[in-house]
Amino acid sequence: MSQSTIESILQEERLFSPSESFSETAHIKSLEDYQRLAERAKADPEKFWAELAQQELHWFQKWDTVLDWQPPFAKWFVNGKLNISYNCLDRHLTTWRKNKAAIIWEGEPGDSRTITYAQLHREVCQFANTLKQLGVKKGDRVGVYMPMIPEAAIAMLACARIGAPHSVVFGGFSAEALRDRLIDAEAKVVITADGGWRKDAIVALKPQVDKALADGAVPSVENVVVVKRTAQDIHMQPGRDHWWHDLQQDASPDCPAEPMDSEDTLFILYTSGSTGKPKGVVHTTGGYNLYTHITTKWIFDLQDTDVYWCTADVGWITGHSYIVYGPLSNGATTLMYEGAPRKSNPGCFWDVVEKYGVTIFYTAPTAIRAFIKMGDHLPKARDLSSLRLLGTVGEPINPEAWMWYHKVIGGERCPIVDTWWQTETGGVMITPLPGATSTKPGSATFPFPGIIADVVNLDGNPVGENEGGYLVVRHPWPSMLRTVYGNPERFRRTYWEHIPPKDGKYLYFAGDGARKDKDGYFWIMGRVDDVLNVSGHRLGTMEVESALVSHPAVAEAAVVGKPDDIKGEEVVAFITLEGNYEPGDELAKELKQHVVKEIGAIARPGEIRFSEALPKTRSGKIMRRLLRSLAAGEEVSGDTSTLEDKSVLDKLRGEG
Ligand code: WTA
Repeated sequence: MSQSTIESILQEERLFSPSESFSETAHIKSLEDYQRLAERAKADPEKFWAELAQQELHWFQKWDTVLDWQPPFAKWFVNGKLNISYNCLDRHLTTWRKNKAAIIWEGEPGDSRTITYAQLHREVCQFANTLKQLGVKKGDRVGVYMPMIPEAAIAMLACARIGAPHSVVFGGFSAEALRDRLIDAEAKVVITADGGWRKDAIVALKPQVDKALADGAVPSVENVVVVKRTAQDIHMQPGRDHWWHDLQQDASPDCPAEPMDSEDTLFILYTSGSTGKPKGVVHTTGGYNLYTHITTKWIFDLQDTDVYWCTADVGWITGHSYIVYGPLSNGATTLMYEGAPRKSNPGCFWDVVEKYGVTIFYTAPTAIRAFIKMGDHLPKARDLSSLRLLGTVGEPINPEAWMWYHKVIGGERCPIVDTWWQTETGGVMITPLPGATSTKPGSATFPFPGIIADVVNLDGNPVGENEGGYLVVRHPWPSMLRTVYGNPERFRRTYWEHIPPKDGKYLYFAGDGARKDKDGYFWIMGRVDDVLNVSGHRLGTMEVESALVSHPAVAEAAVVGKPDDIKGEEVVAFITLEGNYEPGDELAKELKQHVVKEIGAIARPGEIRFSEALPKTRSGKIMRRLLRSLAAGEEVSGDTSTLEDKSVLDKLRGEG
């Protein structure tokens, strides 16, 4: 977070209370209601979650133990049997919701589809049978590499229906990144499309899959299913590749949901950490279903008349929890949009709000800052009066962006829920409840009932009021990650031993800095590790560095984030070259492109800085703190006494 953002946040005093009319009809109507729930949950968390699990979900068989906690390994609703696709589909078919819109899809260019619960159920059952015909069995992993089309949700729900964990890989990742993830998950099938639409152009997806699978690089993959979306020519490998529509045509729509154990894996989703390759975050069925269900219901105050739109991509956790599972489990209408604001149609988001009468809108601060830049005339030219609730996720929101969102998009009548959470937490952890919580611009406010969050120092002791510290969670919660796929030691080390456990008490370490103010409001200050947040996307500095050093010209690379007005952070790479290479614009361009090829466009460095050497400590550690200051154009302050060669710093500043 930039210095100026931190300063403006520290001075924030404004308070916005929910309107009486909003609170009156809300699920959680007052601060007292919230406090009562939170206190009840704290006093007896297991009872609290068990009651909700009983009330809100359908179980084929009830659990016998609510929580089995062998730190840091948790099991929720032990021996319970359920199926999340049953909870998202079948149970709504016996109610009036049978013919309610489950998914409204707005595609590019100008395509649209509305799918009712009955239709979605039929398609999911057919695709579940298709997967079975391809030999997919309970426990087999399925890769999903898709654009934002309904088939992405159908594929996920079909996997869930037969108990095959899905591993969705964001469609913007490169063939190399896709290959790594498919190998790690040992995927048996990949579901993809010929291409998708992105900003007026077709992005080829199937050719990336071909590249990822080339030369038998992923031996586990036996079949590839391809949705025809953009209809350009693609290569179909006989025996391996099949068209979705061919397979679906012959598939029976009769496929009962497999009773899954609460703790059976629902999905694996890869995310960046500060070291090593992206880790496969494992989520299981029962706890995840319950937590995403209840958070969607209370935080977005879902009512049956709502048209709910979360602008994330299904390739990220936000898409999993708050486009697909949470809303559908509640029987809501969830909107999926394939497009993105672009030069030819900068007002497209507001067109979608107006066209469908969207009532709940959930997006990222980076998008809000981009809207501000595009100008107020765009939203003002559309009728946004249907909106009643706004949300943000993915990064800290600066108070100015919050105020603009409140005024220009929300017409000063919509509460804003600033939701803090992570891939690992499965669902939102710190957030206002819109009918109950008075909000302060830039603060995610309070923990969700049942979440015991705190701000502590490295000894695990709470820090004082307004003092910065580390954000932790003190008690397991239903949708917490269960492990890192194939690497329980990494799971233990990264999340549970960063702050050493004391007296058998384990703290979940989130990797974010935070503070609590005098009223107990949480203010999230950004990552405290080597993870960057570029346009709300998580990137490990080490991933980008590995991509750079895989280029023959690069001897050493150090990557840091630099504050950026729109993206939040931008990637800046400091590079030393191999002897026979000369720095220059051409090479910088080539290196940026190389990162795109290795990871994807989201990781493209904004700036490459060549240097003769990198600042290191005597023990050889790169001093990133110095590089961060240099990248931001700030004075290099603080202690530089451990720097091995002081002249390096002068050279980097251009003074050497
Ligand atoms: C950041 C996205 C401040 C945070 C759901 C976290 C936020 C990381 C907020 C997780 C917020 C997310 N305020 N920071 N409301 N929401 N973050 O795994 O640094 O892609 O650790 O999950 O995003 O990113 P991830």
